[in-house]
Amino acid sequence: MNNDTKHRYGRISRLFHWGIAVLIGWQLLKFFDRIADGEHWIGQTLVPWHISIGTLVLLLVVLRILWVAKQRGNRPEHDPATSFLVKSGHFLLYAGMVLLPVTGILTMLGNGYGLTAFGIQLAAQGEEISWMASLGSLHSPIAWLLLILIVGHIGMALLHHFVKKDDVLRRML
Ligand code: HEM
Ligand code: HEM
Repeated sequence: MNNDTKHRYGRISRLFHWGIAVLIGWQLLKFFDRIADGEHWIGQTLVPWHISIGTLVLLLVVLRILWVAKQRGNRPEHDPATSFLVKSGHFLLYAGMVLLPVTGILTMLGNGYGLTAFGIQLAAQGEEISWMASLGSLHSPIAWLLLILIVGHIGMALLHHFVKKDDVLRRML
């Protein structure tokens, strides 16, 4: 089933969730540049895709948000006691997925580097634009916040599955 239901996320929501989760995990490997200045296997083979994958994530997240809007009122429900917290957590995950590529692109444009994704030039090198570079400097703090949120998110999913033994994880599998 492509569409979501009250009991389960449909095929398209699951594809978006797990596809983007893998890409975000890949993007977070950029933190490994802090170790030995990125002079290691991760830094030399996976991290150089950072700008291309990040730009792809922005496109996919926009499509995902449109899909979620279409599925509104037709998605698995949450325990009313914690529904507000769960929805706020998911909202913040979306905010992180949008703001990271946006601030990443602002870093590139603001410093006059231009933007090239998968070999396609999207913006040429140019002059520095200081307000863009300033907003872009939020990229790293937002990445730390998203990392903390994701750890909490995975922890809650495992708690539901192994401690509460409900169907919260299964409906996303
Ligand atoms: C889902 C998208 C993205 C995630 C999760 C992400 C994550 C990260 C992380 C974890 C770091 C390392 C920060 C640190 O060590 O403090 C980083 C740095 C960086 N990212 Fe991204 N990023 C994303 C998208 C992008 C995009 C689209 C661009 C450019 C178009 C970009 C450009 C950069 C640059 C230039 C740095 C190094 C400078 C800095 O730390 O501000 N990122 N990113
Ligand atoms: C091992 C990694 C992950 C696991 C086990 C996991 C598990 C889950 C589960 C079980 C749900 C359903 C929750 C519910 O119905 O209340 C869910 C939803 C969600 N997850 Fe994850 N997740 C993971 C990684 C991620 C990552 C990396 C992100 C994005 C940064 C993310 C973003 C979301 C969002 C936004 C939802 C809300 C449903 C939607 O709109 O698609 N997840 N996740």
